[in-house]
Amino acid sequence: MRWQRTEAAHRVPRTHHGNATGAGRDRGGGSLASRRVTELPRDPAVQAALTTLGCADATALRIGGLAATELAKRFGTPLYAFDAAVLRARTAAVQQAIGPHVQLLWSVKANPSLAVTACLRAAGVGAEIASLGELHVALAAGHQAAALRFAGPGKTDHEIATALQHGIGCFHVESASELASIARLAAAAGQRARIALRVNLPQELGGARMRMGGRSTRFGIDAGQVPELLRIAHAQPALQLDGLHVYAGTQVFDANAFVQHARALCELAVAWERDLGLHLPAIDLGGGFGVAAYAGDGSFDLAAAGAGLQALVAQYGGASRQWFVELGRFLAAPAGVFLARVVRTKTSGGERHAVLDGGLHQHAAAAGVGTVVRRPPLLVHATALDAQQGEPVTLGGPLCTPADQFAEQIPFAPLAEGDLVAVLHSGAYGLTYSPTAFLSHPAPAEVMVDGDVARIVRMRPAAEDALRAQLP
Ligand SMILES: Cc1ncc(COP(=O)(O)O)c(C=O)c1O
Repeated sequence: MRWQRTEAAHRVPRTHHGNATGAGRDRGGGSLASRRVTELPRDPAVQAALTTLGCADATALRIGGLAATELAKRFGTPLYAFDAAVLRARTAAVQQAIGPHVQLLWSVKANPSLAVTACLRAAGVGAEIASLGELHVALAAGHQAAALRFAGPGKTDHEIATALQHGIGCFHVESASELASIARLAAAAGQRARIALRVNLPQELGGARMRMGGRSTRFGIDAGQVPELLRIAHAQPALQLDGLHVYAGTQVFDANAFVQHARALCELAVAWERDLGLHLPAIDLGGGFGVAAYAGDGSFDLAAAGAGLQALVAQYGGASRQWFVELGRFLAAPAGVFLARVVRTKTSGGERHAVLDGGLHQHAAAAGVGTVVRRPPLLVHATALDAQQGEPVTLGGPLCTPADQFAEQIPFAPLAEGDLVAVLHSGAYGLTYSPTAFLSHPAPAEVMVDGDVARIVRMRPAAEDALRAQLP
């Protein structure tokens, strides 16, 4: 959507500055009349995110059937809101794309919300976990332990033994040492542990923004070491060889590169089966499908990836194997919105600033933590979606560090104290990726919205909870 200059000028909401052009004095004391007003096309990633939420042509943000302002009023800010219908729709779209032979797993790390995990389970998604905490979330969400897959390069003996007690479905093994520990602990418990080896392929996953393979890494087992470990696992009575796993990067925006990388694993799988005379009943092709997180980000071609994976599956064993794809961000990011209120507006050095009640400690990714070049996240003014462009403003949170900043001097709808700002695509790697202890603010509450019904699914701690678990 492209805003016409005249149209945008008419759409500047009267409520923010007392007249339709936005001229006048704001509450921070700065005259707006002489400031720059930039009118740009709405970022396609923001537009796509609003479309997913059913707000492409709306003037005010809704999550499900409820206005963002109503959610903020009822539940306070900062707030994460998740749309159950979007979670279900994402699941259905992915499942349709990857076909009936591939089972979809939810990577709980992306958002360990019990409600989100339960919603996805009800939609038919399995789960992949990476800690005992995530094991408890998955179990409470209704998953059977026997269906769960446990990844992570640093599983301790305690974690392995506890997972075995729960009857975990499969360990994704990341080192020779871990394999030996699992065999020892399973034998001691009189159990047979199911294992798959996570393979570090020689090639990097092209098109992934963050790469975790294709070089020396603590993730997975170098492909050259895999045959020997397959032989050991095959021969070890306390182990049951399940198959192979790969996960080589996140924020993949090149569907073709993802399929080619998965193909490389399949080729090795059949070669190892032939050379070692064994069968690999399961192959987990990983995940990392990209979702726009920052202005200017592209999108992932799900249809192309799905078609490529279906062809691969048919070529390398079809229904004779179990196939998995494990996704976090792609399922959940578009279903979530982070809402924060403007606490203060001010002018400094001739530039406008808005200070929000939520920041880096509650949504680190939105502040660019982990990125090399900082770009603004998918930000909108929750009650002025149709006035995207206006005077440049810097949006930051309440922390005492310059790092607590979502955007610097971006054109934005005029903001006044009390206004609501939303970060779209916040349903994954939001709270879970954030250093919530910094400055001892209470963590945000979380709500699940299903149609017209919103329910709190993570309570906002009280300020005095900063003392919880502390001793003098
Ligand atoms: C082993 C493993 N599987 C799955 C995921 C989920 O990745 P994404 O949310 O990018 O799909 C991750 C993320 O780091 C991971 O490490």
